[in-house]
Amino acid sequence: MTTIDLNKKTTHDSEHDPRNDEILIYVNGELKPKAEAVVSVYDAGFMLGDGMWEGMRLYNGKWAFFDEHMDRLFNSLKSVSIELDIGPDDILEILNKTAEANGMTTDAHCRLMITRGRKAKPFQHPGLSRWGATIVAIIEHSKPVETLQSKGIRLATVPQVRGLPMSQDAKFNSHSKLNCIIACIQAEQAGADEGLMLDPHGFVNTTNACNFFIVRRGEVWTSTGDYCMKGVTRQKVIDLCRADGIPVFEKNYSLFETYGADEAFLTGTFGAQTPVAEIDGKPIGNGERPITMRIRELYKQLVAENTGA
Ligand SMILES: Cc1ncc(COP(=O)(O)O)c(C=O)c1O
Repeated sequence: MTTIDLNKKTTHDSEHDPRNDEILIYVNGELKPKAEAVVSVYDAGFMLGDGMWEGMRLYNGKWAFFDEHMDRLFNSLKSVSIELDIGPDDILEILNKTAEANGMTTDAHCRLMITRGRKAKPFQHPGLSRWGATIVAIIEHSKPVETLQSKGIRLATVPQVRGLPMSQDAKFNSHSKLNCIIACIQAEQAGADEGLMLDPHGFVNTTNACNFFIVRRGEVWTSTGDYCMKGVTRQKVIDLCRADGIPVFEKNYSLFETYGADEAFLTGTFGAQTPVAEIDGKPIGNGERPITMRIRELYKQLVAENTGA
């Protein structure tokens, strides 16, 4: 029996697209039909969650903010000593080739996954991955559902925190998402759509799948960034606010200021900016979201500039 409600809203809900049943998936140099796109049960990613990934969006035949995603990915891979004999240009070629084989030019989302690769034995030691990294790119037709924009998402504050950098640094976009999955389960069990996670000191930090912002009295606040994924979208929002004269602060704040915020929203590559309707059953603001809407508009323009869309 599952305790997870499969009909719940999530920030990664997209409109159903039957074309996704027929996609070709890149697996280690080959394009495979979805049903045949598999990796070994000895793969370090499957066995141990030992890998890194990036989520990216395709608009007008271009991957938005590709350089920023590659910067984070290669930094992550270097940090955990996963060695690749290819670079960002080769990754771009892989993504473009896969998108082209699927006839995709826009409204597509890629999950690029790189693991330490197949292991000689089913044990933890990284040296057992002897045959090089496993590279997989799943690209799906993907349009986030518009109803989330009007309705907003419901968050619940959860006991699970994103920890200190000397345990598993929250900045890693690692295959192992157990920390976030536990938070997500706790949120579901509290009747919400996504979990609002605190940092080890009790300050408001991030959600289990996105970065988190509030708008208070004309100012935009987000966490210091010390205990969360440094989202590409998060940084774009901060930069856009600065350029547009919207006061923006990366700072410590608690649930006190959060419950009393005028607006709140999440950021992530998949859904861009997703409004938050309520937190722990408390409605956020009066339902009007002028600053979130302004930021959303600025972000759309930025994506268009970046991709020529
Ligand atoms: C835990 C977490 N936070 C935030 C994000 C958003 O990051 P980005 O804006 O780079 O998509 C993600 C997406 O991968 C994530 O997994």
